[in-house]
Amino acid sequence: MEKRTGSPYPKIDRPVLALVGVVLVISTAFFAWSDRQHDYRYYQYQFRQMVAEKFGADLAATTSSGIQQVWVPGLRRADRCTTCHVATNWKGFETAEEPWRTHPVEPLKAHPVETFGCSACHGGQGWAIDTAEAHGEVAHWEEPLLGEGLGESYSLVDNKKALMQMNCNICHRYERETAGADMINHAKKLVQDKGCRACHVVNGRGGTIGPDLTWIGDKAPEQYEYGRLSGQKTAFAWHVAHFKDPRALVQDTVMPNFHFSTKDAQALSMLVLSWKRAEFDVALYPGVARTDPQTAEERKAEEDMRTGPGGWFVQTGCFVCHSISVFGVKSPAQIGPDLSIAVEDVQARFGRTIDDFIREPTGTMSVVLSRQIILTPEQKQVAIEKLRQAFAEYQRLKAEGNAPSLSR
Ligand code: HEC
Ligand code: HEC
Ligand code: HEC
Ligand code: HEC
Ligand code: HEC
Repeated sequence: MEKRTGSPYPKIDRPVLALVGVVLVISTAFFAWSDRQHDYRYYQYQFRQMVAEKFGADLAATTSSGIQQVWVPGLRRADRCTTCHVATNWKGFETAEEPWRTHPVEPLKAHPVETFGCSACHGGQGWAIDTAEAHGEVAHWEEPLLGEGLGESYSLVDNKKALMQMNCNICHRYERETAGADMINHAKKLVQDKGCRACHVVNGRGGTIGPDLTWIGDKAPEQYEYGRLSGQKTAFAWHVAHFKDPRALVQDTVMPNFHFSTKDAQALSMLVLSWKRAEFDVALYPGVARTDPQTAEERKAEEDMRTGPGGWFVQTGCFVCHSISVFGVKSPAQIGPDLSIAVEDVQARFGRTIDDFIREPTGTMSVVLSRQIILTPEQKQVAIEKLRQAFAEYQRLKAEGNAPSLSR
């Protein structure tokens, strides 16, 4: 038997070694090549040069290199945006191009990057380290960066960067106003002024004629009926068109046409789409309001009306949509006509007595009295008497020359 020296299987040894060598060479070349595909190395390199030029080599040596990550436990996400957005917390690069620009200081004061990351406000895909992926430039509307590009494609009329405010409002939804979220604030005011809660529950308060809107932002884009919508088929476009003219999309809806401007309709669409369940635990942020009660003034105004001569209309809920001015009842929303002269008006408009109308209502009132305010025949009789009293009071005041002006 031949005596072996060295490796026990010399015949296999060489080809294996050779193969391993080739694989190593190829994979080294491949990894080096694929790494270069990551633009971030370029952005980091470039930034180091910029810092060196401005502040000297010592500081330049402290710039970050390699993949950066902010782990945000409260949001259960890892954001790597700072891998490229290298200047976020540096002073002195306020006018540089992206991604080398200092972040505006104000928004980060209450939301430091270490605890909030970036994507909670901006959207985008936190884990990605390629620009297109990170900015989520994909067809679906949820993931992309809520930046200027998307604002452009949604034809925002006012501030193209405003879409981000939808994300602000996922955390700040229960505030009446949030500094830095102007479009959302504008929409919240419209919801109060127009009395959307007359028909919709929002955050647990409101009527039941329309759907509960508390989590309407979770409705999947595919769940919308786009048949009557021209142009872009997105949830955002659907809501804008619906706010501008509800009947154009939902033929038999009783939702009124409020004649909103494009800006109003876009602001409201942003607001309702922001009403979605947070992926993060809002309870981790004790400073943020978690309920949305009536203000003390709103409660007092309601209480005063409840104990006055028009108390029945307040207790029954008619005042949500109707003022009854002769009794000092002022509706916050004024969606329906002032009921002071309903007795006469119903006769003029529908050719029916008030008795007939209340017993067999048509239009919005048929929905109201079958879905939101269910009255027994006896209660309907009370309604008719109260409406008669209101009209008698109106005629009395008119004879005195003191008739209130009615908003109708
Ligand atoms: C691979 C590098 C890279 C990563 C990772 C990256 N960005 Fe960017 N970002 C850029 C570059 C380059 C620009 C400027 C050119 C452009 O707008 O595409 C930019 C621009 C932006 C802008 C301004 C443009 C706009 O449309 O409003 C925002 C906001 C932004 N990035 C946010 C983010 C957020 C949030 C993340 C993490 C989810 C992120 N970026 C991750 C490279 C990156
Ligand atoms: C609290 C929310 C918030 C957080 C967290 C946040 N930003 Fe911003 N960011 C803003 C606001 C607000 C602006 C100003 C937008 C404007 O000018 O309307 C802004 C501006 C920017 C811009 C300039 C783009 C533009 O359109 O003007 C970039 C880029 C950017 N942020 C990236 C980041 C990155 C990267 C992070 C994480 C390191 C981050 N942001 C964290 C709210 C935030
Ligand atoms: C992930 C949740 C979250 C997001 C997203 C978010 N915030 Fe905040 N915000 C908070 C928390 C938590 C505080 C601190 C509240 C406290 O402790 O008083 C805060 C504080 C603030 C404050 C200071 C309030 C005060 O009374 O001092 C303002 C203003 C504010 N946020 C505006 C914004 C804007 C504008 C955006 C979007 C660009 C935004 N927030 C996005 C959670 C969030
Ligand atoms: C007189 C009652 C009424 C008022 C007032 C009203 N709505 Fe509606 N709303 C409805 C009804 C009924 C629907 C369901 C049919 C439809 O889509 O139009 C609806 C639908 C909606 C939807 C679509 C919901 C979905 O699931 O697709 C949104 C969003 C909405 N309303 C928001 C508002 C806002 C915001 C206001 C105030 C500016 C408002 N509504 C005022 C009755 C009303
Ligand atoms: C959710 C809003 C809403 C509520 C609540 C509501 N109404 Fe109405 N009501 C309307 C609207 C809108 C009209 C106008 C309908 C139309 O023109 O078809 C109307 C019309 C009427 C009319 C006809 C008035 C006229 O001058 O033509 C009467 C009467 C009336 N409502 C009584 C009541 C009474 C009584 C209650 C309480 C039991 C009540 N409504 C509650 C929305 C409401």
